Amino acid sequence: MTRTARVASTTAPAHGRREHWSGRLAFILAATGSAVGLGNIWKFPYITGVNGGGWFVLIYLICVLAVALPIMVAEILIGRSAQRSPVMAFRKLAGARSPWQGVGWLGVTAAFVILSYYSVVAGWTLHYSWLALSQGFAGLHPAEVEALFGQVYQDPGINLFWHGLFMLLTVTIVAAGVHSGVERWSRILMPLLFLMILALVLRAAGTDGFWPALEFVFGAHGDRLTPAGVLEALGHSFFTLSLGMGAMLTYGSYLRTRDDVVATSLAVGGLDTLISLMACMMIFPIIFVAGLAPGAGPGLVFVSLPIAFGQLPGGALWAAVFFVLLAVAALTSAISLLEVAVSHFLDWRGWSRRRAAIGIGAVIFVLGIPAALSGGTRLFGGDFAAATAVLFGAGHGKNWFDLADYLASNWMLPLGGLGIAVFVAWRMGGQAREQAFMAGSRFARLYWGWVWLLRYIVPLGVLAVFLHALGVF
Ligand code: PHE
Repeated sequence: MTRTARVASTTAPAHGRREHWSGRLAFILAATGSAVGLGNIWKFPYITGVNGGGWFVLIYLICVLAVALPIMVAEILIGRSAQRSPVMAFRKLAGARSPWQGVGWLGVTAAFVILSYYSVVAGWTLHYSWLALSQGFAGLHPAEVEALFGQVYQDPGINLFWHGLFMLLTVTIVAAGVHSGVERWSRILMPLLFLMILALVLRAAGTDGFWPALEFVFGAHGDRLTPAGVLEALGHSFFTLSLGMGAMLTYGSYLRTRDDVVATSLAVGGLDTLISLMACMMIFPIIFVAGLAPGAGPGLVFVSLPIAFGQLPGGALWAAVFFVLLAVAALTSAISLLEVAVSHFLDWRGWSRRRAAIGIGAVIFVLGIPAALSGGTRLFGGDFAAATAVLFGAGHGKNWFDLADYLASNWMLPLGGLGIAVFVAWRMGGQAREQAFMAGSRFARLYWGWVWLLRYIVPLGVLAVFLHALGVF
């Protein structure tokens, strides 16, 4: 970028030259790629398992409809109206010195924090894909599979190598641009992801575990559901839909004004939910057939599932498909996390995309090293955990990895989501808001319901998540 453009960028970035999606489908694919990730295929099934399925899933669906979707519409609208990345968008809509830009800064910070540990788990999925393809998990005893995960979790070499490789892939795609990078790869990877998940669900439907799994996920039972589980469902709806940290805002800023935000949000929210439910319907049948417990926690996918695949005819191949699927899902989400930071430095500092992608990617790689070395314990000693315990109550005893996830899911995303909701509902001004909502929209009838949810239900929900994080419940 030239010097003039750079000077201009602090007030009004090169608007005319902003890249745009080639159409609505491109946006839907990219935004669904951001939403569908480890949150859907790793985390949702395991928290469903821990909370006993049934009512938990229903409550989760209500959270998505009543809290997450209204925020998604608001977040994309801010991006589309301002045609800027998070910080510059709030500066443009609220004024250059407005404290509202803090919401944007929080988002950019969250992108660094989340991607640093997300990439480490994504690295495990690459490593597992490689293991499944090269030797399979067949013939391994359950204890050996467990030992394998322990080794992956603790081996600095394995972790650093795959974390680095995953960041390299992400950087390469983002450096190529919105059009030739993000959009192009979403068009290739998302249909592939859908085909793989469909094949796995069909395979699972052919096992005896399918009906018990259906009953577990959709049956009317809630024996293991607790108030904490309800709030977990709410917190997860932010994470899984990539809300509250500017990812949807940034992708929205590459939309044109005539593109329908409400319809696209419904499509993205619907696809994300569909894929979460499909993930349950491919994982639980296989877990049940192998006689394993659904409530294994985070190890459900990395320990229980390889054990279960090992007992399935043709399991080695299916395990490979599963872990490649997980890696693809993680990649399209990581792209959106890096894009938030990159587009911020483009708009704010006028950096070139290549320079921003490589520089920021390197910083995030370094930030991820503590998580890749499995923990605060090794790097910071007990003192760090103790310090966070004082600051955040429930933070006690967490290593770096858990701490980053805890901070992002329980504090940064809900706070960002609250900021976005309050800004649009109370600060933006009725006329500007209505105009933004109506532009290109076929859903004019939903306007007042949406405003009402943003004004009252969203803040109440977020408040509940905070009180829970503080240990009030
Ligand atoms: N939505 C992604 C997932 O479910 C995670 C993510 C969060 C991506 C925030 C971007 C922004 O895995």
